[in-house]
Amino acid sequence: MQSFKFIDLFAGIGGMRQAAEMNGGTCVFSSEINREAAATYEANFGERPYGDITRADENDIPDHDVIFGGFPCQPFSICGFKRGFEDARGTLFFDILRIAKAKRPSCLVLENVKHFASHDKGNTLRVVVAALEEIGYSVAVEVINAVDFGLPQNRDRTIIVASLNGTFDFGKLVQSERVTVASVLESNGPFEYVDPAEYTLLGDDVVKVQKQSGLRFVGYRNRNLRKVGVREGTEHLSRVHKQPNRIYCATATHPTLAAGESSGRYWILIDGVVRKLTQRECYRLQGFPDSFEISGSATAAYRQIGNSVPVPMIAEVVRAAGEQGLIAVSDGVEARRAA
Ligand SMILES: C[S@@+](CC[C@H](N)C(=O)[O-])C[C@H]1O[C@@H](n2cnc3c(N)ncnc32)[C@H](O)[C@@H]1O
Repeated sequence: MQSFKFIDLFAGIGGMRQAAEMNGGTCVFSSEINREAAATYEANFGERPYGDITRADENDIPDHDVIFGGFPCQPFSICGFKRGFEDARGTLFFDILRIAKAKRPSCLVLENVKHFASHDKGNTLRVVVAALEEIGYSVAVEVINAVDFGLPQNRDRTIIVASLNGTFDFGKLVQSERVTVASVLESNGPFEYVDPAEYTLLGDDVVKVQKQSGLRFVGYRNRNLRKVGVREGTEHLSRVHKQPNRIYCATATHPTLAAGESSGRYWILIDGVVRKLTQRECYRLQGFPDSFEISGSATAAYRQIGNSVPVPMIAEVVRAAGEQGLIAVSDGVEARRAA
């Protein structure tokens, strides 16, 4: 079977591209405005993405079957009562829309933050769905979590699948066994350990595993203490609010890698000591293979992986879309699953 052609919009460092290629897809166009992310993309895929997508003429984009895009979340300013295509004008989602309208790919796989659905009181999602429906697509939306797809990271993401050939059924996604952070740790350093005088571990009576996410918050670094608004007896909780100070247990799940965390302050407790996750470990938390070349400054590397997607989670969406006849995934992929 001939496999699908896709375009990679808002490509970042190519998380979506990896998920598509794992399913046999061939990339025919990519776009990424950030020069450092584009350099990492080029180092790994041998292709310099087109820059600002707002400047690309949709008619110049090669024909394709699928659009992938983790587009930035922006509010729509709606005046009047009309909803749909025109309402999206002036946003980056509109660029996805105008390309879809001109090129008629059979499917779109779009990704956004968890709160996308409630953004601007639900208006943002309403406009996105209405606009896609207006140009002929059936739209399915669901928040899914990387922790259910073989990664030890609690990362909820809104996934939108729009199709010309039926409605995607999220209920058919195959979830994987849960794994812990320990499964992605490197065996050899160098590691950045934290002096025991610089952190406080909580007693077992305080430490609880959060049921749904699998997070196990075990302590905090002794800095940036909040001095105001701290109730008596809740000192540790006052530090809990500062995410970069938190320490999580490596035999549990890790919190979401954040695009805003450019210093990589992700602390874990492993074998009784506290250390920082290495860059490679962060990339593994998103399901990037060790063959992936991490490039650029440390700041850029952390920002890029925080901005990316959990590769196996998107790969499972693509596989399921193939199974449901919405994307022509290649035969080899079926074989790989069965193996
Ligand atoms: C949430 S990230 C998506 C990351 C990607 N899914 C990955 O796996 O790395 C959104 C990306 O859109 C890019 N972007 C924002 N505005 C853009 C534009 N006008 N044209 C092209 N890319 C843009 C940003 O630089 C950022 O890398």
